[in-house]
Amino acid sequence: MNLKGRHFLTLKDYTAEEINYLIDLAAELKEKKKQGIAHDELRGKNIALIFEKTSTRTRCSFEVAAYDLGMHTTYLDPTASQFGKKESVADSARVLGRMYDGIEYRGFGQEIVEELAKYAGVPVWNGLTNEFHPTQMIADMLTIKEKFGTLEGLKFVYMGDGRYNMANSLMVTCAKLGIDYVVCTCPKYFPDAKLVQYAKEVAALSGSTITIEENVALATKDADVIYTDVWVSMGEPEEVWAERLTDLMPYQVNEAAFVNAKPTAIFMHCLPAFHDLNTKIGRDVYEKFGYTELEVTNEVFEGPRSVVFDEAENRMHSIKAIMYATLK
Ligand code: CP
Ligand code: NVA
Repeated sequence: MNLKGRHFLTLKDYTAEEINYLIDLAAELKEKKKQGIAHDELRGKNIALIFEKTSTRTRCSFEVAAYDLGMHTTYLDPTASQFGKKESVADSARVLGRMYDGIEYRGFGQEIVEELAKYAGVPVWNGLTNEFHPTQMIADMLTIKEKFGTLEGLKFVYMGDGRYNMANSLMVTCAKLGIDYVVCTCPKYFPDAKLVQYAKEVAALSGSTITIEENVALATKDADVIYTDVWVSMGEPEEVWAERLTDLMPYQVNEAAFVNAKPTAIFMHCLPAFHDLNTKIGRDVYEKFGYTELEVTNEVFEGPRSVVFDEAENRMHSIKAIMYATLK
């Protein structure tokens, strides 16, 4: 398997074999790290990390993974560079491409990361756009594989906002890897029809299915994984909260959502999550609307089915695998 020089923008660009290779490489690098075996094989390389939106996991994962591989990093925060403001994406790409061996971008439209990739001349990794979050996918699939030993044939249920970066990416990834994907939400949050069509075609080849289901009891029947994400994503206006709460509260992941699921079912969330009042936004929403828990209850989040912190740790191992595979 040779992925050297490839961009990592969306898993639409990767075959099932390539995705499985990255998952297995992440597991291998995780094991090396646990055993204290050095793997600084990318010594002397430098990478740039462009963040137009905030981050904890993705930024820290890129930094720690880079250091473990022997690389140096430069972090460009939403205010500290000329990117897209005083200098076009194409110009910035050509400048950074002369200095760095790889570039991570987190920000807004997918077209920005595509443009960056077009001009950079070095691998560009998508650290989240409005449409896709592909590095999260390798971590999520690694986590599921660790729990079940396999991916093919599992039933994956996504509840909540079915039309944003996380749901889009999960739908594509499940379709590629032969996992049955069910998005459980109301029509306003159904995924883009064209992406659904694409996913269905891909799923037909891998032997899996893509289903849109409004009824929670039907959707979660025999589920292996129940997944959710925030109801208001970064970059969306605060004003949408009221509508989102009304629309999506029926799709909160709570104990009832697990009643129909398999006894072995796990709970996943890319994080950050609103499951209590220990965040500023969580408290603001509580003061305005009276809800103490949003997309997931504290009981599920803290409960025995939850694998969210394994999932978060796996972000680092999988981002390391993505960089290693595209740079080595
Ligand atoms: N899951 C995820 O991407 O987290 P951050 O926003 O903290 O990077
Ligand atoms: N949908 C979320 C994902 C965060 C990792 C957002 O875009 O804010």
